[in-house]
Amino acid sequence: MLQEAAILSVVVPTYNESANVPELVRLLSEALKDVAWEVIFVDDDSPDGTADVVRALARQDTRVRCIHRIGRRGLSSACIEGVMACSAPIVAVMDGDLQHDETILTRMLHAILREDMDLAVGSRYVEGGGVGEWDSGRALISRFATRLSHLVVPSTLKDPMSGFFMVRRPVFLDRVRHLSALGFKILLDLFASGREPLRFVEIPYQFRNRQAGESKLDNQVAWDYLMLLADKLIGHIVPVRFLAFALIGGLGLLVHMAVLTSMYVGGKVEFHLAQAVATLVAMVFNFSINNLMTYRDRRLSGAAWAKGLLSFMLACSVGAFANVGIANYLFGRGGQWVLAAVAGILVGAVWNYAVTSFYTWGGKRK
Ligand code: GDD
Ligand code: MN
Repeated sequence: MLQEAAILSVVVPTYNESANVPELVRLLSEALKDVAWEVIFVDDDSPDGTADVVRALARQDTRVRCIHRIGRRGLSSACIEGVMACSAPIVAVMDGDLQHDETILTRMLHAILREDMDLAVGSRYVEGGGVGEWDSGRALISRFATRLSHLVVPSTLKDPMSGFFMVRRPVFLDRVRHLSALGFKILLDLFASGREPLRFVEIPYQFRNRQAGESKLDNQVAWDYLMLLADKLIGHIVPVRFLAFALIGGLGLLVHMAVLTSMYVGGKVEFHLAQAVATLVAMVFNFSINNLMTYRDRRLSGAAWAKGLLSFMLACSVGAFANVGIANYLFGRGGQWVLAAVAGILVGAVWNYAVTSFYTWGGKRK
């Protein structure tokens, strides 16, 4: 006999949640008793073996599935791939650490089906919702980030940072090609990636405390968030990765000057030598920071890090030639010296960015 097709697919991104996953499946079965549902876990090769735990559950229960990604990280991209891998007309996204209250899923479904909504948001910031035991620091940051988000999402949305929501598949498909897929904020991305306003409702819930495992939200999440906002605001004009790359390049220049000054002026080292060392230090600095920030989702480590550094240095050396060449050429043709220099820097930067994004961080995915 054919199994009844799911009307609701629940997508759960996981990283080191092996202790939480069995309980989540149990809670979902309870909360969704009267609904044909399935759950798709998207695991980024968690070292704690979350994917094995999911597959073991899947052998007991065909409503459970696992997408096991290798060499990838990213909450948003995991959610997107999970949604693309299932077929129910309605999809929910929720965390795998039991902090999201699964008992409101039926209310969300009801809102979409009966009240004809596009989207239902699990919300901590409407009457009846709450953030549990957050310290005042995190609560303050969250409030500030929410305020910033209103640059790109409607201010009527009270919890744009929520990672808990349910959406009609066609609405998601309509926007999926415009998603930035950067960082943690998939709901915000969804809201900001289309022109038509979404019909949505916010359903309150209390954000629970984590019982097992730990949060992956670290300092760099703030950076990811700013990248996402920048992408939504000006991404159609300049790629946001280029902005980050250029910004870090600017910092690299400061590092270069600091090393040069301390060696040449302070240490009385010969200029050529000081300049060479400064260049080397600046390149290693630029490579490391770009690897940590700009290409956080494709971060190189171990032997790949060393290989990456080498290709980065090679690319940037050519970039430096191009920079000097263009500047000299324009200057020689009677160009203003500042303009000639800026043009050289721009060409060099674009070259470095283009080549390293392809060779250094392009990886096998081409
Ligand atoms: N596949 C995958 N890849 N999953 C990930 C990754 C990743 O790189 N990073 C985190 N996750 C999973 C976690 O395992 C968890 O199931 C879920 O994504 C949320 O991660 P947490 O680390 O628990 O985040 P949080 O609780 O600090 O943040 C939550 O609240 C924020 C609002 O304050 C999330 O729901 C955020 O989306 C939300 O913005
Ligand atoms: Mn969490």
